[in-house]
Amino acid sequence: MKENILITGGAGFIGSRLSRKLIEEGHNVTILDNLNSQIHTTKKIDIFLKKNSQFIIGDIRNTNQLLQITKKNDIVFHLASETGTGQSMYEIKKYFDTNVNGTASLIHTILKSDNTKKIILSSSRSIYGEGQYNCVDHGLFTIKTRHINEIKQKKYDPLCPKCKKQMNYIPSDENTPLNPVSTYALTKKMQEEIIYNMSVIGSYEYSILRYQNVYGPGQSLNNPYTGILAIFSNLARLDKDIEIYEDGKESRDFIYVDDVVDITARNIAYDLNVKNKIINIGTGKRTTVLDIAKKIIDQFGSKSRIKITGSYRVGDIRHASANIKLMKKIFNIKSDVDIDRGVKEFVNWVSQNKIGNFKGYEKSKKELIKKNLMK
Ligand SMILES: NC(=O)c1ccc[n+]([C@@H]2O[C@H](COP(=O)([O-])OP(=O)(O)OC[C@H]3O[C@@H](n4cnc5c(N)ncnc54)[C@H](O)[C@@H]3O)[C@@H](O)[C@H]2O)c1
Ligand SMILES: [Zn+2]
Repeated sequence: MKENILITGGAGFIGSRLSRKLIEEGHNVTILDNLNSQIHTTKKIDIFLKKNSQFIIGDIRNTNQLLQITKKNDIVFHLASETGTGQSMYEIKKYFDTNVNGTASLIHTILKSDNTKKIILSSSRSIYGEGQYNCVDHGLFTIKTRHINEIKQKKYDPLCPKCKKQMNYIPSDENTPLNPVSTYALTKKMQEEIIYNMSVIGSYEYSILRYQNVYGPGQSLNNPYTGILAIFSNLARLDKDIEIYEDGKESRDFIYVDDVVDITARNIAYDLNVKNKIINIGTGKRTTVLDIAKKIIDQFGSKSRIKITGSYRVGDIRHASANIKLMKKIFNIKSDVDIDRGVKEFVNWVSQNKIGNFKGYEKSKKELIKKNLMK
């Protein structure tokens, strides 16, 4: 069935690939994006459109404009957000404005136009915070924050609160207690809450998708605030040193953008399996930041050296990966792009593009130090 679909943030990294896929599938797609200058640094915006689709430059906080759009659409993919964890620690108002007020405007309008049947939110694993760890002697602990004193002694992994021994990280499932430690994470949690709280009043279904770290072709090479693969690639291409925080063993669950887009698009089905669900989207595997840097250096054949700084960025968590049992069950996903193939595809794409803007990266590091957010 052909659907009328709105994609907020549809000009962004994930949104542009999602809109392309849905347009190619023949749906009537409206892309709404304010072309945030931090991400869209050039005037040339390359958006895939066909007869059945349109691109509107606009802001999700503009309820008048939004009302005209939501009236005509049955399904809304909500991706528009500010997305930098480090930056969110000092641009608090901006992050609340876009992410929380923006989502409130969207839901306010959807309730008013009373036409939307389904909302799919791109949420984030960041809301789990440090997540849960297991001590072999004392069992499971939910970690609120890491202790700065332990970090200063280079004990980066959270230690057992009882015996102070090393613990094992447990991949987060959807019932892991939420514990946002950055402003960004807090706003993503609030986006979720607005959507499911108000669904009781509205007549819409929802899917809340908690993405792990998404990477791949199309990600911004100029935004200094997000995307370590992009940042490392820029450095590797110039043979510059790659600085890594902590001891480099911090890890993330990196998932290839096309896998995310594929799973996200499947949520348009009005099928009981994907109704009012919160679902982790990841690979379930962890890769350390050090390994990512090595893979990128290898792929480019770069002379960059890796410098492990030992510093800690406030708001950063130690490890993240998803328990993806529910995702597998609902979407019956068989395979995904593994990290080696994904990095290769990414590097191939990067090589066809200009090296990203460096001044922004240096400035972003200085900002963190000035604001006392780098320890
Ligand atoms: N990339 C990741 O690793 C990742 C991980 C977890 C969750 N997410 C979530 O997925 C979504 C998309 O992320 P992305 O990586 O494609 O980010 P992105 O920054 O590339 O895309 C976001 C888009 O939203 C637009 N936008 C920002 N504020 C807006 C506003 N007020 N009105 C209209 N448009 C606005 C931007 O111009 C941009 O095109 C976000 O909600 C993000 O929180 C991403
Ligand atoms: Zn213990």
